[in-house]
Amino acid sequence: MTIGHAAFRLDGQVAVITGAARGMGARTVEEFVALGARVIAVDVLDQDGQALCQRLGEHVIFRHLDVTDEAAWHDFAAGISAHWGPIDTLVNNAGILHVASALELEREAFERVIAVNLYGPWLGIKHLAPDMQRRRRGSIINVASAAALVGMNGIAAYSASKWALRGLSRTAAMELGPSGVRVNTVCPGGIDTPMANPTGRPRDQLDADYAGQALPRIGRPEEVARLCAFLACEASSYLCGSEIAVDGGMTLGTRIDHILRDQPK
Ligand SMILES: NC(=O)c1ccc[n+]([C@@H]2O[C@H](COP(=O)([O-])OP(=O)(O)OC[C@H]3O[C@@H](n4cnc5c(N)ncnc54)[C@H](O)[C@@H]3O)[C@@H](O)[C@H]2O)c1
Repeated sequence: MTIGHAAFRLDGQVAVITGAARGMGARTVEEFVALGARVIAVDVLDQDGQALCQRLGEHVIFRHLDVTDEAAWHDFAAGISAHWGPIDTLVNNAGILHVASALELEREAFERVIAVNLYGPWLGIKHLAPDMQRRRRGSIINVASAAALVGMNGIAAYSASKWALRGLSRTAAMELGPSGVRVNTVCPGGIDTPMANPTGRPRDQLDADYAGQALPRIGRPEEVARLCAFLACEASSYLCGSEIAVDGGMTLGTRIDHILRDQPK
């Protein structure tokens, strides 16, 4: 039995999700499968990727793919449709964070961040979108960040890569939209994954770090996964080139706590 309006489901669809072995990517795989899709989960963490497949069963296959490797994308694109048929959705989710100020940042680290967070999504689009264009259907979802909407100290390379990803997404949306392929961007705020919480701190401690936000807590991977699923569904058929913040209000603006308090009574 299927649950929910058909436009909000992914029955019969095939999705490629990068960075799928853990964190938000793994949760997005689960969400897609729950909505009826089959998923090719892509990552460099083979053990975690295989474990995900075992947990979710026959609707998921894992492929080792370093998103920065163009030859690997070429081979992947050439062989993948033989398994389940053509690809309907690409979620460019793989990403890395490097913490360093603009002055401390080393060139090699900067280049690595750009390679994974910007070239990775570009290569995915370059190699999977042509078939989508031929079929005149497809949805590409790029996972940027709240750090692509505002400046953030300490993550110069990461923020630069994600701002650039927005530029790539908008351009790709304009170029691919006329042939039926939608490209959209999601901009998560702080989300409780190994990237934002590498030492596994408890949720209540993490929430305290986000006390100044409109929603004063860290986000959960499923809260981004559901947005990605929506952008893959027919229900989002008129969204093209959008940039959606899923950030608990992190990027709404500057909060001035004293402004009301300081008004003369
Ligand atoms: N967690 C957050 O607070 C947060 C906030 C905003 C945006 N994001 C973005 O969300 C996405 C998912 O992040 P996450 O929080 O789940 O992080 P994560 O570190 O838990 O997961 C990222 C995944 O990407 C994979 N990956 C890294 N380099 C790769 C490569 N070269 N090829 C293939 N796979 C690679 C990793 O192995 C890992 O499985 C990233 O793009 C990240 O920048 C995360």
